[in-house]
Amino acid sequence: MERKIILNQVVEYYHEKFENKKFTPGKDMVRYAGRVFDEKEMLNLIDSSLDFWLTEGRFAQEFSEKISEFLSVSNVMLTNSGSSSNLIAFSALTSKKLGDRRLLPGDEVISVAAGFPATVTPIIQNAMVPVFVDVDLKTYNIDIEMMKKAISPKTKCVFLAHTLGNPFNIAQVEELCEKHNLWLIEDNCDAFGSKYNGAYTGTFGHIATISFYPAHHITTGEGGAVITEDEELARIIRSFRDWGRDCYCNSGENNTCGKRFTQQFGTLPAGYDHKYVYSEIGYNLKMTDMQAAIGSAQMDKLEQFCSRRKENYNRYRKIFGKYSDFFMLAEATSNSDPAWFAFIVTLKNQAPFQRDELIGHFNANLIETRYLFAGNMTRQPFFEGVNYRLADNLQNTDYIMNNTFFLGTYPGLTIEMLDYIESVLDSFVAKYLK
Ligand SMILES: Cc1ncc(COP(=O)(O)O)c(C=O)c1O
Repeated sequence: MERKIILNQVVEYYHEKFENKKFTPGKDMVRYAGRVFDEKEMLNLIDSSLDFWLTEGRFAQEFSEKISEFLSVSNVMLTNSGSSSNLIAFSALTSKKLGDRRLLPGDEVISVAAGFPATVTPIIQNAMVPVFVDVDLKTYNIDIEMMKKAISPKTKCVFLAHTLGNPFNIAQVEELCEKHNLWLIEDNCDAFGSKYNGAYTGTFGHIATISFYPAHHITTGEGGAVITEDEELARIIRSFRDWGRDCYCNSGENNTCGKRFTQQFGTLPAGYDHKYVYSEIGYNLKMTDMQAAIGSAQMDKLEQFCSRRKENYNRYRKIFGKYSDFFMLAEATSNSDPAWFAFIVTLKNQAPFQRDELIGHFNANLIETRYLFAGNMTRQPFFEGVNYRLADNLQNTDYIMNNTFFLGTYPGLTIEMLDYIESVLDSFVAKYLK
């Protein structure tokens, strides 16, 4: 049977099943995020399933090339999640291949507690010490003055996310990293398409990560990527992703180095098959070709998706800006152009209602809201017994934990949905207006 026949039916199926879904306010849920796709993603997925190659293949190559071109970076390693990307980005810095630049147990790593656990858990998993700095209540990113005070002789690395797509102050963070000789990892999971000083975030740190979980800027279902300009780091990252192996042949290839049976490693017999030489304590965190097939089609939509996120964000600013006595709105970091992951709102002290009353009202009206992830991560159950240090008190982080929430900006939101959100907010706030 010709593949074309199956693929034509996929297009028909897409139109019948997924197109032109009508939104009924108060009946249909307004989600904060979700996958946005058309027949192209489904066609790629089915096409790849019919190849039945399964592991990284032609679509993985296409997908990583598109990311590489978009960001202008030379090395893109696809993974099975943003969390896996963070784990191997950080673990790579422990490699013996880095000599005295390698990270060691007990080293300190600067981060923030107002964020997602996956930015911090690799530090703990590698027996290092997270040092938490407070964030500011405008950008929700690291407080640079406190960061300066947090750096100690033990500090070796900075691992930060661009909070909800808003870049942290990269110029100042980079300056501190250079001054103190620190590694910088950008967790770009919530910021794929954001810009700082005219360049995409994810291109500043020694290593950066991306997530393709459906809430993010593009999706492959589960999935992620690690990016770096540094060839040595790229080799190490690939090794950590691929069982710790020394060999760098792509899936299905053999002897690309031409020295497969002629080298000496450790105390193995001379000429031991390079395919089975392991130089790192690695994992297997690779992406499948079916995920990459979806990702490749999504990449063609990334710019358009980012524009929609920005438009939605601006509409929210108008909706919430009417009530400036009650709400603090986020500000884009100077010199940045965020592709907002979400619209973040913090209640002012004098607001006559609590955050949870308002989000209860949104949720009762089928509008999804979220907290800023883990709130103050050090207060989470998983932190019990963890060795960490606070740079100072985390006053703003605690304030966020109690008073902050976000609404979605994803491209699946329609004008009707945003109008509905406005009317639901207006009806809640009306009770408190004099
Ligand atoms: C900042 C940040 N880093 C990492 C992750 C983890 O990504 P994934 O869900 O793909 O594991 C997330 C959450 O999705 C996140 O928000």
